[in-house]
Amino acid sequence: MTSDLSSLRQRFPIFQHKVYLNSCSQGALSSDVRAAYEQLFQDWIEFGSPWEQWVERLEAARHAFCGLINADADEVAVTTSVSASISALASALDFSGERNKVVVSDFEFPTVGQIWHAQEKRGAQVVHVGAAGNTVAAEQFADAIDERTRLVSITHVCYRNGSMLDVPAIIDLAHAKGAKVLLDSYQALGTMPIDVKALNVDFLVGGVLKYLLASSGLAYLYVRKDLLPSLDPTYTGWFAQANIFAMDNNAHAPSPTARRFETGSPPVPVTYAAQAGINLIRTIGLGRIQQHIGQITGAIKEGAMRRGFNLVTPVDPSRHGALIALRSHKVDLLVKRLAAEQIVVSSRDNNLRISPHFYNNMADVNRLLDALTRHKELLV
Ligand SMILES: Cc1ncc(COP(=O)(O)O)c(C=O)c1O
Repeated sequence: MTSDLSSLRQRFPIFQHKVYLNSCSQGALSSDVRAAYEQLFQDWIEFGSPWEQWVERLEAARHAFCGLINADADEVAVTTSVSASISALASALDFSGERNKVVVSDFEFPTVGQIWHAQEKRGAQVVHVGAAGNTVAAEQFADAIDERTRLVSITHVCYRNGSMLDVPAIIDLAHAKGAKVLLDSYQALGTMPIDVKALNVDFLVGGVLKYLLASSGLAYLYVRKDLLPSLDPTYTGWFAQANIFAMDNNAHAPSPTARRFETGSPPVPVTYAAQAGINLIRTIGLGRIQQHIGQITGAIKEGAMRRGFNLVTPVDPSRHGALIALRSHKVDLLVKRLAAEQIVVSSRDNNLRISPHFYNNMADVNRLLDALTRHKELLV
């Protein structure tokens, strides 16, 4: 860890008393994000209802996100959750014709599958691509995607085991059949460079509470510019209108930009936090963060395998994100035991999830591995 990163770690008070390795669930609170929330209260007290300022904050949150994924401002909607983003997109898709298939992987966060299955009432047919062990290979999508596929909806990094899909290959497969691709990058944003233009992805969603270091209530939907005119969401509201302050109760006139996927009053408080969190990420740079996380996850994998623990995450570093999962036959007990040793991790299925960020260091890895060794009867 360079001195720079260790001095940034000082801005996260939790490290004074805990080893925090649960960024896949919630980013650690920094003094920057805390100060941003204090600024919200200050502005609220000082100005009462500074909506002009708050709308500027919303636009700043939009621009901050655009910078992270190389999108233009008119391609990004600011929403309140990934679920809201996908629901707005779903409402704009037509499933009444021949092209009614939605292909999802079994690695999706449940909200994704749930929203697509909800579209069955509107004619959608949802096809699942199952996992083969701890991966879903691009070739498995080749059988499922055909000329009837409207959308391929895939996670970037699986929330259960950290597995990273071969996104460029899946996008190529989908586009070759005329299907569009929605990428759920929630578990990847803030941990690695993502370039929507280089990926040529059609839609991308994510939010700010995990590796972007803010809190819940603010998420995004990227829509490739040329697709916007053909997409007219019915999940909508006054903040989706071309002129928000038209206040016209007699007509719906959606914005020509991705704002058409927004709905009601924006999540003002968390726009403060989002900007502070994303600023921290940008100060360090995504390339450097990816490299650092790679060192930390590499050390966790190596230490776990040397001790004979059962690694659920693919070993190949190009096939996983910032999340390493270990099989445990009593995972809830293991999470509790680690918590008693001031180590914060989480679980899904029977997997212990260990998710570092730039603020973790090798001392954290050693504390974790020593503790896991003490409780190895829960792992092997
Ligand atoms: C990959 C992924 N997608 C979606 C979600 C849920 O997003 P939201 O609660 O903003 O709808 C999560 C939350 O953990 C996630 O990990």
